[in-house]
Amino acid sequence: MNSPALARYEATLAGLARKSRLRALSPQQGVDFTSNDYLGLANAPRLKAAIAAAIESGVPAGAGGSRLLRGNHAEHEALETEAAAFFGSEKALYFGSGFSANVALFSSLPQRGDLIVHDALIHASAHDGISASKAQSVSVSHNHVESFDRAIREWRRNGGKGHPWIAVESLYSMDGDKAPVFELADLADRHDGFLVVDEAHASGVLGPGGRGIAFGLENRGNVLMLHTCGKALGVSGALLGLPTVLADYLVNRARNFIYSTAPSPLMAAGVREALRMIVDAPERRTELEKLKNFASERLHSLLGVRPSGSQILPVMIGDNARSLRIADRMHAEGFDVRAIRPPTVPEGTARLRISITLNVDEDQIADMIQRLAVAIEKDRP
Ligand SMILES: Cc1ncc(COP(=O)(O)O)c(C=O)c1O
Repeated sequence: MNSPALARYEATLAGLARKSRLRALSPQQGVDFTSNDYLGLANAPRLKAAIAAAIESGVPAGAGGSRLLRGNHAEHEALETEAAAFFGSEKALYFGSGFSANVALFSSLPQRGDLIVHDALIHASAHDGISASKAQSVSVSHNHVESFDRAIREWRRNGGKGHPWIAVESLYSMDGDKAPVFELADLADRHDGFLVVDEAHASGVLGPGGRGIAFGLENRGNVLMLHTCGKALGVSGALLGLPTVLADYLVNRARNFIYSTAPSPLMAAGVREALRMIVDAPERRTELEKLKNFASERLHSLLGVRPSGSQILPVMIGDNARSLRIADRMHAEGFDVRAIRPPTVPEGTARLRISITLNVDEDQIADMIQRLAVAIEKDRP
């Protein structure tokens, strides 16, 4: 279509293409080295059977309304009760996605006069919530506790009277490294503040029994956690773990909780089963740990990649176009390896984000890394 009103969008897309930053949807293809289905639950027969059984027993596909109106189903409430017990929080609140939960939390809880101090690498959804918040915000150096402390002290010196909110991910989605959550919780205590830990990539996988890296901090009363349900839990949605008063506040104030149709009760039934599987099948975590160690060792010996310590293993490339070419070559060889480019990661740090899941075995990992080493070598600048 040739309309002047559309030309500006075409120009933007052409600009993205020139910088090798254009995105397009592509079908699922090749061996999975990119999904967040870390424990292979998304396709697990037991999980699908639980959803089928929920359908059989009359659980509806759609909630039919907001949680505050007709959409509040017994499956949502049962999930929230079980999730609070599992993750150890006073209360849990189920959202349709982690993105929505982060927006709700950051746009509603920090008040005017508060300060949000967030890690420089925090997820886009936290950024969107922070932009909508009435609190001030500041970004600090990645995983540097002293920088969080300095930012809060400076804000107090300049007359900051409210409460500081420290915002981090327990396991960083594009780097695979962990935040010093216990030190940060102490810092939040010292400054009469809150700590928000986004456990998106740790829930179900890391911490005691897969309960997250920050497990044990929830009873302090000032630590909030986000557990997404679409990654290791294999379903969709997200659970915020938080003190009851803050959950009640969100139910009254978070616009995207109030003015949105509740998540499908079938998904809530699925997440309930996923939590039971996390408890009943610890061997999945053991197997993932084994595969992660195997991949880390191979990536280190063949490509000199420093192990991140987790199942997310970035292979740094730097240049956008080169990352894309290498990913394309891997696709052509039957491996789903994705190039992650700005603005998802900082400028000049394009990478291949290798994600290890139970959807692969050691032979596939060895084969993929061997071919990746060749692809990188063939595309030397
Ligand atoms: C750290 C982090 N937080 C939140 C989200 C959003 O979760 P969801 O995919 O459930 O919207 C993601 C997913 O990309 C994430 O990586």
